Amino acid sequence: MKKKLGLILVAAVVCALTACNQENAQPKTGEKAAQPEAAAPQASKSLVVYYSQNGATKKLAEIFQKAKNADMFEIATVTPYPSTYDSTIAAVGAQRESKQWPALVNPKADLATYDTVYLGYPIMFGSFAPPVYTFLDSNDLSGKVVVPFCTYGSGGRKASAAELKTLEPNANVTLAYGISNKRITAENGAEVATKEVEGFFADLATGKTDEMLMGGFTDQRPLTAEDSAVFATATKDYAYLKLAPLSVATQVVAGTNYLFVCTTSGFNRPPTETMVKIFRPLPGRGEPELIVMEK
Ligand SMILES: Cc1cc2nc3c(=O)[nH]c(=O)nc-3n(C[C@H](O)[C@H](O)[C@H](O)COP(=O)(O)O)c2cc1C
Repeated sequence: MKKKLGLILVAAVVCALTACNQENAQPKTGEKAAQPEAAAPQASKSLVVYYSQNGATKKLAEIFQKAKNADMFEIATVTPYPSTYDSTIAAVGAQRESKQWPALVNPKADLATYDTVYLGYPIMFGSFAPPVYTFLDSNDLSGKVVVPFCTYGSGGRKASAAELKTLEPNANVTLAYGISNKRITAENGAEVATKEVEGFFADLATGKTDEMLMGGFTDQRPLTAEDSAVFATATKDYAYLKLAPLSVATQVVAGTNYLFVCTTSGFNRPPTETMVKIFRPLPGRGEPELIVMEK
């Protein structure tokens, strides 16, 4: 597999092995009781559970945590993945092949008091990173609202959410949020993601589906020279995907969304058809950027 996935790969990263954020913990015994007129702090009803190898998903998890004033639970592996990209690919490949999911420091989360679980993960091999399978095997999400969120090189949001629905048929798995590694690790990444996550919560509240979010585009049409230029700029760091655009649809927002039907033949695979979503900001507000590639 090619070295570059458009990722920023940090050399030696070991996930912090803290399992719980105690920010929302109850007052310690012996602490002064709250004044009668002060409203008692509401126990948090939502929990952000996440795995992150190199920090991008952790950054996103913190945005979800802040937005929902949720408790946090980090999925941490007993043995961290190796420090290089190629060796992580080999380790994850072997785990997927054998379905031997990695042991976790704290496999079980106390989910009893939570009705909503925000589940965050990096996409690896098109779906969850393996530690998430261990988490799902070790915990019962039945009856919970489960909101998936992920970071990725080029895509995997929809496919991973669909797999989560299959693995957790008794949970209410909602629309998923995803953002590319490139966008969330950019200088303004936290700001961009925070704004998008706000919009995502609005979409969740109004019961939007992926199909509804795809509404409002024109019909697909042949590319103009301008479309080709937009495509070339937005995909310049994704040469490994070997994308060839076939047609395009657009949607005017504050800027323009483009939906390119393309073939992809990266990783020595035969060409398959895929969709590439690109956002072009209003003039003077930045370059067109790849948002996601998925079917
Ligand atoms: C072993 C491995 C496999 C990956 N597979 C994919 C993939 O199939 N699709 C994709 O878009 N990104 C893939 N990525 C990129 C990660 O999803 C992306 O870099 C993510 O933001 C990493 O999150 P983290 O910093 O929280 O670990 C892969 C990365 C690694 C290390």
